Amino acid sequence: MSVLLSDGRTIPIETHKIRIVQKVRLPPAAERLRAMEEAGYNTFLLRTRDIFIDMLTDSGTNAMSDNQLAAMMQADDAYAGSESFYRLADAVREVFGYEYLLPTHQGRAAEHLLAKVFVKPGDVVPMNYHFTTTKAHFELAGGKVLEIFTPEALQTQSECPFKGNLDLGRLDETIARYGPERISFVRMEATTNLLGGQPFSMENLRAVKQRLEGAGIPLVVDGSLISENAYFIRQREPGYENKSIREIIREMMALADICYLSGRKSCAVRGGFIATSNREYFDRIRPWLPVYEGFFTYGGMSSKEIEAMAVGVREMTELEVAGSSAEFVRYFVERLEAIGVPVVTPPGGLACHLDATRFLDHLPQAQYPAGALAAAVYIGSGIRGMERGTVSMDRDQEGRDVMSDLELLRLAVPRRVFTMSQIEYAVDRVGWLHRNRALVGGLEFYEEPPVLRFFAGKLKPLGDWGARLAEAFAREFGPAC
Ligand code: F0G
Repeated sequence: MSVLLSDGRTIPIETHKIRIVQKVRLPPAAERLRAMEEAGYNTFLLRTRDIFIDMLTDSGTNAMSDNQLAAMMQADDAYAGSESFYRLADAVREVFGYEYLLPTHQGRAAEHLLAKVFVKPGDVVPMNYHFTTTKAHFELAGGKVLEIFTPEALQTQSECPFKGNLDLGRLDETIARYGPERISFVRMEATTNLLGGQPFSMENLRAVKQRLEGAGIPLVVDGSLISENAYFIRQREPGYENKSIREIIREMMALADICYLSGRKSCAVRGGFIATSNREYFDRIRPWLPVYEGFFTYGGMSSKEIEAMAVGVREMTELEVAGSSAEFVRYFVERLEAIGVPVVTPPGGLACHLDATRFLDHLPQAQYPAGALAAAVYIGSGIRGMERGTVSMDRDQEGRDVMSDLELLRLAVPRRVFTMSQIEYAVDRVGWLHRNRALVGGLEFYEEPPVLRFFAGKLKPLGDWGARLAEAFAREFGPAC
């Protein structure tokens, strides 16, 4: 929620009080430099004891509610037939309107099962944009990911309210070119994570559905951030301003055939699921669940998390919860924009995204500007963000780098975790770094895994810019900061 102040400003405001806290420490710049060097200039390899504000992700890091924690106490740990599962199935039926539920240990496990059942070698999977784990699973199954976004999607500075829309003309061409037999399904990601958490509109989803229905192609929604997408539809799409988040989610789900999600985001737990009302699809996926995940009634999740998910699925439909990250992201983006820092606009869900291409316009893409910016922000502030650019793309079969469409540094805002002063600190330090951006140089890999290299790969700076950045910071703010 946001409130209007008497001086004319609109600020996000918490609709909760904080009763449990976890200590964090700000290590001084020299320590941060050492930690970054040990982590191979990869923020995934930092330890949390070296991190002041962890904006790596909103995955599994959201604050849980008192009701979620209370529900965990009634977990039924039965291997088979657990009542916890039935409570979650009720919640999913109520919120999503789907009959059948397949729990998984997290979102990528759902992607694995969908790939196993639907994606055949030579197939294509059109989507509004890929996510890293989605692409990995669909390609491992022999399929090809086709991204058919609209031209606005890649414009980091924009006023387009729905940069996550699928390009309908290109969808028609794709169906004509490959035919329904070679299209596993069409995947719509509810707020496109790698485009900066940008939503699609209901109008677009409806038009996609119309085209697929005639051709008999399933429509799959990745609902990991579904409450945020619904929140943006409510804010930005005419005709939805008076609808509830629940009504909007139900309308989206009535258009889709299958919804899968990572429960680590909107639902504020650690788990995932696939849900559908289509008996045939359910029957095809179900046999694989105990092979890869666990018995039908827990699917690799702990029963405590299943209980918390049943509450989280309902709570994410409360307006204040659905907008809890989005309103802080909006504030964060607007503050940075006001001081001239290049950020992705309009503000999306889950995170504030810095545009590394414009921020570090002296670096060629082959030197991984978004990776360099992630390291520089950490050295300059103790804030950990996530590279979402070429480092996050694996090499092609010839071993060449695949240049990412965008070079972004994601500063995630987990739901109900950070306060306004922490956001203000982030704005200040990113602003300082922007004024000193000439100090930041490029990176190169010295250890590189073949799949999802961004998780474990190690890089080194070209030159000694990391050390010079830490020195410049300490000169300005003192050695203790
Ligand atoms: N789909 C989307 C849209 C996601 O954002 C994620 C995860 C997944 C699928 C995979 O789910 O992690 O539960 O296996 N996103 C995390 C992130 C990793 O940091 O954005 P998972």
